[in-house]
Parts: sequence; C-alpha cells; structure tokens
Amino acid sequence: MAAGSVPLLSEDAVPLQECRDLIASLPVDHRVVPVRQYQGFWWPESTLPGVIAVQRHFKSRPDDVFLATYPKSGTTWLKSLAFAVTTRSQYPLSDHPLLQINPHQCVHSLERMFNRGRSSEIDALPSPRILATHMLHSVLPDSIAASDCRIVYLWRDPKDVIVSAWHFGEKVLGTREYQAEWPVDKVAMAHCEGISTHATIWDHILGYWRARMHRPEKILFLRYEEMLAEPAANLKRMADFLGCPFSPEEEKAGMVEEIVTLCSFNNLSGLAINKPSSDVTDEGTKLQLLNNASFFRKGERGDWRNHMSPEVARRMDEMTMEKLQGSGLSF
Ligand code: A3P
Repeated sequence: MAAGSVPLLSEDAVPLQECRDLIASLPVDHRVVPVRQYQGFWWPESTLPGVIAVQRHFKSRPDDVFLATYPKSGTTWLKSLAFAVTTRSQYPLSDHPLLQINPHQCVHSLERMFNRGRSSEIDALPSPRILATHMLHSVLPDSIAASDCRIVYLWRDPKDVIVSAWHFGEKVLGTREYQAEWPVDKVAMAHCEGISTHATIWDHILGYWRARMHRPEKILFLRYEEMLAEPAANLKRMADFLGCPFSPEEEKAGMVEEIVTLCSFNNLSGLAINKPSSDVTDEGTKLQLLNNASFFRKGERGDWRNHMSPEVARRMDEMTMEKLQGSGLSF
C-alpha cells in the first residue's frame, strides 16, 4: 500500500481527538497497513487511539476479568467459553445468547470500544465485568496491571498464529495483493526479526507469563492446543479460576460438555449469525468491515504445515525455544 494513500485516521477511529497530535508525531511505516511506533512497539494506526484512551481513561474494578490474547490465538473461542461459563445460571443453553449473537458482542474488546468512542458502555456494565484485550501486559494501565483483577491468558503455537493472521489479513485488507507481497514465510521471518504489530508473539506471551510469576493465583494460562485436546478439563480449570466451579450436580447433568459443544468451532461457525453477510468496504480506510464469519476459519492445530516451509517452521520453533528458555513456560 503506497505511503500517503491512507488518510491518517478515519473519523470512526478517532474517538478522542486528544490522541491525534500525539499519534501524528509517532514514527510511521506504511508497508502493509499504516503502523505507528508507540512505547517501543508497532501498533496498527487504526487501533492506537483506543490503546492510548484505555491507558488514560480506563478505570478497572478489582472484580474485573480480562481475557488477554495475542490476535488470532483463539480470542473468539475464549470469549464464548468465558461468557457461557459465567452466565450459565442466567441462560438456558438451549436458548443462549451465543446462538443469536457473535462472541465478540457478548464480551467487549476493551481498546476497540474506546477506539469507537463507546467507553461509556464499558463503564455501564455491571460487575463483575468480563473484558478482552490484545494489549501487551507492559502497556496495560496501572489500574489493571497493579490491581487484583483476574486475567485469563490464552496462547497458541506461534506458527499457527502467523498462518491465521495471514488469512485474516486478506479479509481485513480485502485484497490478495497483500498475500502475494507478503507470503507466509516472509511474514514469519519478519516476525522472527521482531517486525510485527502488538510486539512479537513471544514477547506478548512472556509479558503475561512474567506477571503471572508475581500473581499466580490471579493469572491463568491456557493453551489453544490443550483446549482442543481436552476442552472439558480446561473449561473446568477456567470455571474454578473464575470462582464459579461446576457443582457435582452440574457435572452429572452434563453441563460441562454442553458448554463445550455450544462453544465448539463447528457449532458457532455453523450458526446463521456467524455466516458471512455482505462485505462492505469502508472507503476511508480501505479496510473491509469485518463480518462475524471473519473470526472462524479452520479452528485446528497444525495448519501451518499447509502454508509454511519446513525451514521457516524450524526457525520459528527455534525462536520459541530460545525465547521461552528459562521462563518455566514450555511448549
Ligand atoms: P484459524 O485461522 O487457524 O482457523 P481470534 O479469535 O483470536 O481472532 O483467533 C481466530 C482463530 O481461532 C482462527 O483460527 C479461528 O478459526 C479460531 N477459532 C474461532 N472460534 C473457534 C472455536 N470455537 N474453537 C476453536 N477455534 C476457534
């Protein structure tokens, strides 16, 4: 995308005019989508106002729960599970909101809501709130990082994150030019060299992992691949952590398995609400407005094998081992 072809920020993306001058002064890179360097990391220009607004204005509550993920690590799934497990006494599973609305409408993304000028809706939510974020731990406002809030962190094989993001990029940009110019191997190697948005996947994971060292009882780590392998056991871990463990009666009645099925890839992606609707292009940003189907693709582990060369996959695995070495987190 040529430099200068995209206006600095769309009207929609600037809920807080106070950010405009700051953002305009930050280093910019236009090679794929416009990104700005802020607090040591590159951020998509379109999301940065929300990040800064969260830092300046968000007030967390001690009983908030945050679902933190690197983009394309399974946020949609985590939102559906956390929402279903914490609201299970309110809604019968046979007539559940998740059957009518997308998980992203059930659990709001913090910086996205601020970006859209909808922070008052976050303030108005009753406690305990469940909110999602892609922000790095190091840039979270103190009110989250230093508070007693619980955080569920979901991580995934970085190779599959790259592949998922690559496919998502095509949907977001609405063009195959991006994929031709940036094949998976090139994106992965750039990532290994630290060229990425939201920091590298490894730095994102390690930020939350190190925070967990200080507050192990308040930060739960889940892995996408383990959730695929043992969804019921991991759902029970999450329920325990969130303070709403399944009772023996609920377990006997099959409630755990019912929630797993409700939130499964096959079920959610097959619902009418999550099917592709009309693709409208926002002329201001050249980004396609995402429809609910954009968040469902394959929902499997190991799709990297179909897109990444063995050499690049090996390099990514080496990076994962190097980065996680000594952290106590194993892959
Ligand atoms: P793939 O592109 O590998 O299929 P995010 O929600 O963070 O944007 O991540 C999207 C990834 O999670 C996509 O991965 C998507 O298919 C997968 N996903 C979405 N819903 C899921 C579910 N219910 N179960 C498992 N994976 C899911």
